[in-house]
Amino acid sequence: MSDPLTIRGFRIYPGHLGRPTQEALAEDLRACLRAAPLYQPVTPRGQAMSVRMSSAGRFGWVTDRRGYRYEPRHPDGMDWPPIPDSILHIWQELADFPRPPDCCLINWYGEGARMGLHQDKDEADFSAPVLSISLGDDGLFRMGNTERGGTTQSLWLHSGDVVVMGGEARLKHHGVDRIRFGSSTLLPKGGRINLTLRVVT
Ligand code: SIN
Ligand code: FE2
Repeated sequence: MSDPLTIRGFRIYPGHLGRPTQEALAEDLRACLRAAPLYQPVTPRGQAMSVRMSSAGRFGWVTDRRGYRYEPRHPDGMDWPPIPDSILHIWQELADFPRPPDCCLINWYGEGARMGLHQDKDEADFSAPVLSISLGDDGLFRMGNTERGGTTQSLWLHSGDVVVMGGEARLKHHGVDRIRFGSSTLLPKGGRINLTLRVVT
């Protein structure tokens, strides 16, 4: 395994997944999304988010008028599908944590979608990292601080890149300012998929 690039404690593995692995993941995700379709999430303040979302695993992360939380079922009532082994394998390689993830959040960014700076803090145990996998179009990833505000650093994430947000980076703000729609040929309809693996309980 080549050494990661570390920025503010975010461990970045550029090109960790080769094209055949990315294609296999995309195929496994299509099956997940047939079982638990993408839906449009709404923030607790009632704003529709620009990404579309689903999950796999024992829990899915959801947001609506009632708040941010993990739920054992999709908003439409079905169980979340199991996390594919192809995805769990990446956690085993890079997470350095003795438990498997309970949740694989699936975010789909279409043209113009973005994700504001936020912290991932709805989990019970912050000693577990959050592992992020990028597939499809490039995304401009912004990394900030544990406290709100201050300086930030940005980096384009490409298809096949993996980021481990653990240790000092675990509660740091991060977000995606924009994507380069159509920059990758991985997903037939274009767009970017980001997977985040989380230990929830
Ligand atoms: C997230 O923080 O949930 C998504 C990060 C990304 O899309 O790269
Ligand atoms: Fe996040």
